[in-house]
Amino acid sequence: MVDASVPLSAPDITPQELQAVLAVLGSGRLSIGPRIQAFEAAVAARAGRKHGIGVNSGTSGLHLCVRALGIGEGDEVITTPFSFVATTNCLLFERARPVFVDIDPQSYNLDPSALEAAVTGRTKAILPVEVFGNPVHFDRYEQIARRHNLAMIEDCCEALGAVLGGRPAGSFGDCGVFAFYPNKQITTGEGGLVVTDDDRLADLCRSMRNQGRDTSAWLSHARLGYNYRLSELHAALGEVQVRRLDELLARRRAVAALYDQALSNIKDIHLPPMHDRATASWFVYVIRLADRFSQADRDAVMDRLKKAGVGCNPYFVPIHLQPFVMELLGTRAGQFPVTERIAARTIALPFFAGLTEAQVRTVAQALKSALAAAS
Ligand SMILES: Cc1ncc(COP(=O)(O)O)c(C=O)c1O
Repeated sequence: MVDASVPLSAPDITPQELQAVLAVLGSGRLSIGPRIQAFEAAVAARAGRKHGIGVNSGTSGLHLCVRALGIGEGDEVITTPFSFVATTNCLLFERARPVFVDIDPQSYNLDPSALEAAVTGRTKAILPVEVFGNPVHFDRYEQIARRHNLAMIEDCCEALGAVLGGRPAGSFGDCGVFAFYPNKQITTGEGGLVVTDDDRLADLCRSMRNQGRDTSAWLSHARLGYNYRLSELHAALGEVQVRRLDELLARRRAVAALYDQALSNIKDIHLPPMHDRATASWFVYVIRLADRFSQADRDAVMDRLKKAGVGCNPYFVPIHLQPFVMELLGTRAGQFPVTERIAARTIALPFFAGLTEAQVRTVAQALKSALAAAS
């Protein structure tokens, strides 16, 4: 019997990646070697930045940026509730205070006017996210940060290769962070990378990822640090993947176009709200059910999709409604109505570079049946 199931995501690994990782294994140099430097340089170039600092996850990279910028206890950082939880966790690690602001329903990114209105004397930084790889508004966030003398960390974990007004994702604000989990545009298995033009920030991140060492002596520790290093095996994999980035992005864009077409005649859904389908970096393909559907309807649609063998997920569960965040910060339902309205109705459909036209048709058919049953 043919397996009709369609996974939510799948990495795109060729013999080139296998060969690169095997070569590292054969070299005897498994950490702190030439591959990490080459990978860092390649990603920094894609972000138009002077420095790249490879780390073992996007979360680690965000944490290093928070520390390197001197953000600490009681400092307010304006960020989005519509993101992956790591965007907030990196602030909580340092006892900084996340200040959530609602999103723009046209893009799902932070609403720039609401962001500016939330600036207070205690605001130290802003931490916006390119949600699903959409870079819209990042020029405006950067202007707001400059106007109010705030630091800006770009959470571009979902946006490698996106371009806004000729500027690449990762080039906005003081520093940016990419992530390379296997569902991302390129993967290192696990991994992340900080990009910046600031020599001091780069030195601090390099030191803190390696136990707070300075460059001089191995057992000399200048500051509190972590083991956030990325191994040579991971870096070698990333080096091949980033070399293939344009090919991978083009294939993902083509899959998104197939979905756009296959789903265009379904009246009950909104397609992904990319400001520009050609220059966004497609991370996931997230549809949204019309407002007349409830969260329970959405969950029922997802159950039916899963039963039909179609991988799917809600994207995202709002951060301010995560149980531990509600307990820690006193956040509650109703505070961010746009985020909550959208998050209750999103469904991420199977999405990866190798998804075939036939698989897209299978998903579209399963979605139509599931929606018909829910209506
Ligand atoms: C917006 C965003 N921020 C941060 C992260 C954290 O990255 P990692 O899972 O590599 O720690 C992710 C990864 O999924 C993400 O999507």
